[in-house]
Amino acid sequence: MFVFALSFAALLCVTAAWPALSGRGSHFPSEGESEEVRSAAIKRLLEVFGMEDPPAVHGHKQPPQYMLDLYNTVADVDGVTKDPYLLEGNTVRSFFDKLRSEQVEFKFNLSTVARSEKVLTAELHLFKLRPQGTITFSRHHFCQVSVYQLLDIGKTNSTQTKKLLSSRLIPVHSAGWEVFTVTQAIRSWVADEGSNLGLHVVVRTLEGSQTDLKLIHFASGRHHHQSKQPMLVLFTDDGRRSAALESTTGGSEHSPGGNHLLVKSSRTARSPHYSEEEGRSKPCQRLPLYVDFEEIGWSGWIVSPRGYNAYHCKGSCSFPLGQNMRPTNHATVQSIINALKLIRGIETPCCVPDKLFSINLLYFDDDENVVLKQYSDMVAGSCGCH
Ligand SMILES: *[C@@H]1O[C@H](CO)[C@@H](O)[C@H](O)[C@H]1NC(C)=O
Ligand SMILES: *[C@@H]1O[C@H](CO)[C@@H](O)[C@H](O)[C@H]1NC(C)=O
Repeated sequence: MFVFALSFAALLCVTAAWPALSGRGSHFPSEGESEEVRSAAIKRLLEVFGMEDPPAVHGHKQPPQYMLDLYNTVADVDGVTKDPYLLEGNTVRSFFDKLRSEQVEFKFNLSTVARSEKVLTAELHLFKLRPQGTITFSRHHFCQVSVYQLLDIGKTNSTQTKKLLSSRLIPVHSAGWEVFTVTQAIRSWVADEGSNLGLHVVVRTLEGSQTDLKLIHFASGRHHHQSKQPMLVLFTDDGRRSAALESTTGGSEHSPGGNHLLVKSSRTARSPHYSEEEGRSKPCQRLPLYVDFEEIGWSGWIVSPRGYNAYHCKGSCSFPLGQNMRPTNHATVQSIINALKLIRGIETPCCVPDKLFSINLLYFDDDENVVLKQYSDMVAGSCGCH
C-alpha cells in the first residue's frame, strides 16, 4: 500500500488509492488507521528496503567521508540514481577495523554480508601519514607495500601462513589514502566466516628488506582520528536489481503504433459525451508523493536522503488517449472499446508508472557499518495509460 504499490500498480490499477503519504505535511499513517496496520505496513516497507528489522543505531555516528562522497557521486539530492551504470553492483559496504592493533594487522567483521551476496570488488583503504621528521633525509624514495591474507595452517594444506593479495610501490613522502584490492580474501571469508583471520600489511625497501614501519606509516584505528581509520570497502550485488534496467524502456517503443490509432481517433474525438467525461477527471498525469523517512521514524539509521519523491500516477485514461498519455496499443484499443461500449464491463485503461527510477540509501546497518544501497523501481519517472 505504500511505496511497493508502484510495482503492483500495473496489475491492480490503483490510480486513486494512494494513502496519506502524499504531501510533506500529512501524517503517517492517516487518522483511523490502527497501530496494527501501521506496524504491518512499516514491516512491509522495510522488506522493500531488504531488511527484517530497522537497524539499531546507538548515538550519533559520523559516516566515513568516502561513503558520503560515493553517495553524492551516484545519487542526486533526492537519492535518485544519476546514472544506473555508475555502480557495478547495487550495494557498497564499509567496515572499520575491529582489531585496532598497533601492528599493521586488520580484521573486519563481515557477518552482515549475506552469503548470497556476490562480492564484486573489495578494497582495503589505508591512510598513509606524512613521514616523521627523522627519516626525511632517508635515501629511500619508494617502498613496496604488500597486503596479505592470514591463513589458518591447520585448514590449508601448506606451510604458508599468509597469501599475497596485493602489492605496490608507494612514495615514502606521500600522504593520503592508499587503496589495495583484496577481493579474493573477502570472497573466501564471506563463504566461510571462520576462515577470517584478517589482513596483514608488510612494508619492504626496494632491496627487499622488511622495514620497521617507520618509513611508511599508516593511520591506525587506535591512535588516529576517526576520519583516517583503516577501512574495508565492499562492492557487492544482492541480485535484487534483476529486471530494473530493462523495465525503464517505457512507452516509447510502443508509441509508433499508438500514434496511428491516435491520429484516427482524434478525428472523431470531439463528441460532447467525452469532453464531459474528461471534465470530471483530469487526464493521466504524474503527481508528487513525498516519502518522508523522518515521519516513518527511520531518520536514526538513514543517513541520506531524508526522504524522496516517489511520485504517483493519477487521472483518467478515457478516449481519446493523447500521445502525452503514453498509451500502449493495447490501452488505446481498450479505451476505444470502452468508448464504443461494444462490450459491457470494459473499463478505461489504468494510469500507471511506465518508467521507474532507482533510489540510493546511505544507512547504518546492524553492526553500525555504513552501507550504500541502490533500490530499483522506486520513483515513477513518467505515467502512462496501460
Ligand atoms: C561480528 O558481529 C556480529 C554482530 O554484531 C557478532 O554477533 C559476532 O560475534 C561478531 N564476530 C566476531 C568474530 O567478532
Ligand atoms: C595435502 O598434501 C599432501 C601431500 O602433498 C596430499 O597427499 C594430500 O592429499 C593433501 N591434502 C589435502 C586435503 O589437500
